[in-house]
Amino acid sequence: MLEGKRILLIIAGGIAAYKSLDLIRRFRERGASVRAILTKAGAEFVTPLAVAALASEKAYTELFSLLDESAMGHIRLSRECDAIVVAPATADLLAKMAAGLADDLASTVLLAANKPILVAPGMNVEMWNNAATRRNVERLAADGVRFIGPAAGDLACGEVGIGRMAEVAAIIDAAQTLLATPTAGASLKGRTALVTAGPTREPIDPVRYVSNYSSGKQGFAIAVALAARGAETTLIVGPTDVAPPAGIRRVEVETAADMLAACQAALPVDIAVFSAAVADWRVARRNELKLKKDGDAPTLALIENPDILATIAKHPQTRPTLVVGFAAETGHVVARARDKLTRKGCDWIVANDVTGGAVFGGDRNRVHLLAGETTEAWPELSKDEVAARLVERIASHFAGRLAAE
Ligand code: C5P
Repeated sequence: MLEGKRILLIIAGGIAAYKSLDLIRRFRERGASVRAILTKAGAEFVTPLAVAALASEKAYTELFSLLDESAMGHIRLSRECDAIVVAPATADLLAKMAAGLADDLASTVLLAANKPILVAPGMNVEMWNNAATRRNVERLAADGVRFIGPAAGDLACGEVGIGRMAEVAAIIDAAQTLLATPTAGASLKGRTALVTAGPTREPIDPVRYVSNYSSGKQGFAIAVALAARGAETTLIVGPTDVAPPAGIRRVEVETAADMLAACQAALPVDIAVFSAAVADWRVARRNELKLKKDGDAPTLALIENPDILATIAKHPQTRPTLVVGFAAETGHVVARARDKLTRKGCDWIVANDVTGGAVFGGDRNRVHLLAGETTEAWPELSKDEVAARLVERIASHFAGRLAAE
């Protein structure tokens, strides 16, 4: 899979730089070509001569070298490759990348890059755990940079913990995956999203209501994953027992009518995911006073609630670019979900079998993803993993649209 691929390898100043020499050999063994850039500190750990000898090409080090810039400018370096691999990536280089700094050749090429980037960090455990590095890694991941490692173990500094650069074989595998799915890890920065989650509560009187067992967990996980990818996300949530995630804009609602109004207020958005278990019916006439037990048991007349998903998906002016619905079914899951996809006018449907009731409130889910004409059966996964995969697909979808534009 690496045959003919052009890897731009950036070697920063960490002790793991010695492994990068082997990395060059292994990439080339698999048919890839490697062009390397060393940071100033990187060149203290391995020599440009050794790197050039293994890559069979000059190793680049200087931004302001007249010779280099005229022969091979930083823009060309960033263009003439299929992927950029940073190994080892130091805390310093990650900080520069996260901040968008460009004060040497490596950071300038990274800032100018329009290719997928894979980063293999290698550093002391405390540097890796430092709040600043945590922030930088999170920011870079949201920007679409992919990470491999670091691993736990003995560190060159004598301490033990997470910080060892991933093994060469693991970096090669990750680079292969990156090249096979270049839009994976794509950012959703600049996109807006709304997610509905949890049940709705339809009052009978001031103290009683009709509702369902939805915990909101799946929707929460989706909102978190969208926000982590950089989408500006609004979570519209009904009353649940599970605390909604912190740090995400949240609108709390009670009834289906409230939820519809909150969704409409959040428009326009690029992405809308409707994972709420909206009550299909509400009590036709809400009693202002508590129903009394004297006399016959009351009969509750129900009327249909608005279908939030269908209302928003079918709106000619404000329809989000991508509308994703959920379908909780008991039996004939795919057929029913496909019917729902058409009927409600959504683009994708996540369908799950809720026979037995283990999904509501549980942490795991087995779903089918119906995207347009295609149907995929996903294995049983945690709700977090379902969310991660779904958001990966959403990000790839938008990255693909961008490429087509
Ligand atoms: O028809 P059903 O309730 O199975 O449809 C499920 C999908 O429709 C979910 O995405 C759910 O959030 C959405 N829905 C809605 N408003 C309703 C009923 C369902 O948005 N009133």
